[in-house]
Amino acid sequence: MTTKQTISLLRLVTLLLLCLPVLNLAWRWYDDDLGARPVTQATHITGDWAVVFLLASLALTPARSLFDWMPLVQIRRRIGVAAGLYAGLHFFIYVADQKWDLIVVALEIVKRFYLTIGFVALLILVALSITSTDGWQKRLKRNWKRLHWLIYPGAVLAILHFFIQSKANVGEATVAAGLFAWLMIWRFLPVKLRTKYLGLALLAIGATLAGFAFELSWYGLVNHVDPMRVLKADFDPDLAPRATLKVLLAGLLVLLLVAGRRGAKLLWTKRYIQRTIPSS
Ligand code: HEM
Repeated sequence: MTTKQTISLLRLVTLLLLCLPVLNLAWRWYDDDLGARPVTQATHITGDWAVVFLLASLALTPARSLFDWMPLVQIRRRIGVAAGLYAGLHFFIYVADQKWDLIVVALEIVKRFYLTIGFVALLILVALSITSTDGWQKRLKRNWKRLHWLIYPGAVLAILHFFIQSKANVGEATVAAGLFAWLMIWRFLPVKLRTKYLGLALLAIGATLAGFAFELSWYGLVNHVDPMRVLKADFDPDLAPRATLKVLLAGLLVLLLVAGRRGAKLLWTKRYIQRTIPSS
């Protein structure tokens, strides 16, 4: 398969995968399978996927470098746009839930801090989705990069929105924050260390510690829970897997996948040499 064909196939598979959550949601809604409060459930599902795709789009630069596979950058734009579309749908469902009363929606966004920051995150995602095309890239020249740097504050606001609306159980939001920390630490790591196993091990530990820090600060400062209780829960096998363990496992999974990819590449190269260079 040529590189062009690989990229076309990858783009097609990505598009299909990006559509799956919304198709599944539509089917479950039609099938009356969203529980007693389908609108709330749909708001949560679309919000979750917006965050998943946002993190996935940020993960593509490290993934390309770690797996040494250039076609991966070709799907970054569509995953980023999908994050914007799912966030837009999330907002649309919220507005529908408010009976399309835009005055009420505006007042709620101004009144509730978690909606205010969600709204700012949404504006950023929409602006970045619209300007993600080649045309806009040419038009904005150097400013395009500056504008698209807003993805980082956008992600921070989206995750904060996730934390605040989670109220008493911030498990999923902690996983999102831990994974985001992994992505940010990777960018700040010295370039040489980024692709080394030591660097990846440090990243897994760093992201887990960041997850702990987010969780302890949230429960401590917002819910006034004793940090020792949170730590005990994190190490209680009956409550496993806790959010921070999931972050650690995700970090270790990256390490394993990178090792697998490099091992497979090495094996392939050896076999290729054996096949093409006849032994004496
Ligand atoms: C004006 C913009 C937004 C509004 C009005 C809004 C509204 C809401 C509401 C009402 C909830 C549910 C709260 C509850 O059940 O108590 C929610 C949850 C959530 N929102 Fe938003 N949101 C906005 C923007 C965003 C954006 C931009 C993202 C992500 C990129 C996002 C991600 C989430 C997530 C992850 C949840 C939690 C889902 C879960 O608990 O499973 N929201 N949002």
